[in-house]
Amino acid sequence: MRATIPEGLDRKEAEVYARLDPKRLPKHIAIIMDGNGRWAKSRHMPRITGHRAGVKAVRSTVETAARVGIEALTLYAFSAENWKRRPKGEVDFLMRLLRKYLKDEVPTLNRNNIRLKYIGRRHELPLEVQERMAWAAEETSENDGMVLTLALNYGARTEMVDAFKSILENAMSNGGVEHLEITEELIDKNLYTRHVGDPDLVIRTSGEMRLSNFLLWQSAYAEIYVTPTLWPDFRGRHLLESVFEYQKRERRYGGLIEPPSGLH
Ligand code: IPE
Ligand code: IPE
Ligand code: MG
Repeated sequence: MRATIPEGLDRKEAEVYARLDPKRLPKHIAIIMDGNGRWAKSRHMPRITGHRAGVKAVRSTVETAARVGIEALTLYAFSAENWKRRPKGEVDFLMRLLRKYLKDEVPTLNRNNIRLKYIGRRHELPLEVQERMAWAAEETSENDGMVLTLALNYGARTEMVDAFKSILENAMSNGGVEHLEITEELIDKNLYTRHVGDPDLVIRTSGEMRLSNFLLWQSAYAEIYVTPTLWPDFRGRHLLESVFEYQKRERRYGGLIEPPSGLH
């Protein structure tokens, strides 16, 4: 029996979707949105043009993910290391673009029943950005469909530092560290991603084969998919193509799917 095509997919998306097993979709997809600068450069345009064009890619990816029933989508939008970018005008532009994105997208998020969350050191972002973030999260807080998490001023190592600090602080205010038992669950509970858990699939655009300090703990057993497509060219159909590749993989988590015959 052919899978029913979810409403709202365009023709190309529907074609890819028809090849998927709807029962084995990744629950949580995380994306390293890379290649905006190269996209602009190839068109002899300033880097910021690439960032602006990237917003369309975000919109298409988010809507398609929600339409096909992905439970969680996490987007790496600004890393803890991206402050290093010079001239500073690029960072300022990204902050303005982020505020505009949040303002413009709330109706689309609500229409698609998407709840917005964040990971990263929020308090280090400009105050106007923090305020807009709080507003957008509040406006979408009643939605119970896909959880969209934006990684803003996010770094996996700062996340771990913050997790260890919060574990220690909690222990100190609850009778000290003597009986503190460190477990994987306790660390999970103290990471920024406690609301969403581990990604099943991590996508990186623009061909770079590295994680760039993204969800290092949480990606321990994620499937990794790298596409040469530059982020501003990425659309919902590319997301579905990555899911198609994901479904061809065999996840083993260090074990064996079927023990080889003769071995016990
Ligand atoms: C990704 O595109 C967007 C951010 C990191 C904010 P880049 O700006 O890194 O684009 P490239 O990698 O220079 O092409
Ligand atoms: C990773 O891309 C960060 C984001 C996509 C937000 P970068 O372009 O900053 O990573 P590197 O510098 O190529 O590792
Ligand atoms: Mg880059």
